[in-house]
Amino acid sequence: MSIVHWNTDFETGIGFVDAQHRDLFEVVNRLSEAAAGPERATQTARALGDLMDQTVAHFRAEEACMQAHGFPGFAAHAGEHTRLVRELQRFQAAVEAGQGLPPGSTAFLVEWLKHHIHQSDMAYAPFLKAHGVQ
Ligand SMILES: [Fe+2]
Repeated sequence: MSIVHWNTDFETGIGFVDAQHRDLFEVVNRLSEAAAGPERATQTARALGDLMDQTVAHFRAEEACMQAHGFPGFAAHAGEHTRLVRELQRFQAAVEAGQGLPPGSTAFLVEWLKHHIHQSDMAYAPFLKAHGVQ
């Protein structure tokens, strides 16, 4: 069952950001399904690995763009990214130790994504667009 659905409220208007956010929503849904399904150990580890890879790649792309254009809120924004990656590492450690996903992990991820996109990504969007990023 999907636990997060894309809608236009999440659109920053920056092409690569919106495409990567949609992919992150998909992999969070896949993680939630994996954690509840058969072969949960393998599928959860796989989905979590994909989520980590895609998240890190997305944060790198966003951070490079913010830095290239001198976005003044860069440090605080990058700090939020670092904290999420640490949480994902904690989830991975639990899964690797055979404990499964910590309770509340997928709900946390959904809330984090929604809040981060609405508050933090929407805060850089007008600045980057004014600098010609599309
Ligand atoms: Fe971000």
